[in-house]
Amino acid sequence: MSFPSQRGRRLRRTPGLRALARETRIVADQLVAPLFVSEGGAASQPIVALPGHARLSPERAVDEAASLAELGIGSVLLFGIPARKDAEGSGGWAEDGPVPRAIRAIKRRTPELVLWADVCLCEYTDHGHCGVVRDGEVDNDATLPLLSRTAVTYARAGADVVAPSDMMDGRVGAIRAALDQAGHERTAIVSYSVKYASAFYGPFREAAGSTPRYGDRRGYQMDGANVREALREARADIEEGADAVIVKPGLPCLDVVRAVREQVLVPVVAYQVSGEYAMLHAAAERGWVDLERAMAETTVALRRAGADLVISYFARRLAELLNEGRLLAREERS
Ligand code: PBG
Repeated sequence: MSFPSQRGRRLRRTPGLRALARETRIVADQLVAPLFVSEGGAASQPIVALPGHARLSPERAVDEAASLAELGIGSVLLFGIPARKDAEGSGGWAEDGPVPRAIRAIKRRTPELVLWADVCLCEYTDHGHCGVVRDGEVDNDATLPLLSRTAVTYARAGADVVAPSDMMDGRVGAIRAALDQAGHERTAIVSYSVKYASAFYGPFREAAGSTPRYGDRRGYQMDGANVREALREARADIEEGADAVIVKPGLPCLDVVRAVREQVLVPVVAYQVSGEYAMLHAAAERGWVDLERAMAETTVALRRAGADLVISYFARRLAELLNEGRLLAREERS
C-alpha cells in the first residue's frame, strides 16, 4: 500500500497520536547517573569540561544520590578520586576510600537506589593506566588480583553492582570468583565488555585526573574499527559471569549496541560518555543546537539501537523532563 492510501503523517499530527505510535521510551529507572566522589578538598569542586557536574565529598554525594532517587532515577555509578595515588592504585581497595565511604552512607540514606561502583585502577594509579605497569606495558594477569580486591571492597561496603572498566582479559571471571569466595555471591557484575579507545573520554580524565602520564590505552581498550571483536568480548564476559554488559562510548557505537543486543540475552547498557555530553553542551552554549532536544534525541537513539539502560551525565535533566511530562510524553510541548 502506498500513497495516497498510506499517509505516514496521520500518526504524527498531534502529541496524542505521536505517543500512540512511539516505539521507544526513556524511563527513569533505567537511567544510570555517574557521580564523582572525591577525598579531601572542597565539598563540591566543579568539573569545567562537564558543566553541571562536580567532584563531591562522600557527604555531598549522599545528598546528590538522594535527590536523584527522588526524581525516580534507578541507579548511580560511583567513581572515586583519591587524595593520593601510587603505582599499584592501592587507593582502589582502601576500606575508607571515597567510594566505599559513599556507598555505605548512600545505602543508609537511600536504600532503594541501585548502587554501581566502577572498578578500575586508573583513578588510583600515579601513572594513570588501568593496571600495573611492568616493562612499559600494563601487565594483565598481575592486575587481576588488584581489581578483584577493589571489587570485593566495594561489595563489602554494600555496592549492588560492580562495573569493571579496565579491559583486562579475564577480569570478570577473577572478580566473580573473588566475590563468591568472600561471600558476595549476590553482588552483580555489569562489565564494560565493549570499551573502545575513544577520544570522547577527555572530560572524564580531567575529572578523575587519570590521563595516562605516558602512552595511551590502545594496548587494552578496543580498536574502533571492530565490531566482531565486540561480540567476542561480550560473549567472553557473559561466560565468565557478567550479569549485564556495557557498550561505550554511546553515539559512535549505535551499530555495536544493536549487534550486541542481538547476540546476548543479558541486559545491554549504553554509556553516553563525558565527551559526548561536553560536545552537546559546547554546541548548545553557542546556540548551535537545542540542548534539551539534543539530549532527548541522543538518549532515545541509544535505546532504539537496543540499549536497555543508559548511563548518562544528562540523567538528572532527563528525569526532570520526564517528571514534567516533557520528554517523549503525551503532553510534550513541541
Ligand atoms: C575508567 C573509566 C573511564 C571512563 C569510565 N571508566 C575512563 C577511561 O577509560 O579513560 C570514561 C567515562 C566517560 O568518559 O564518561 N577506566
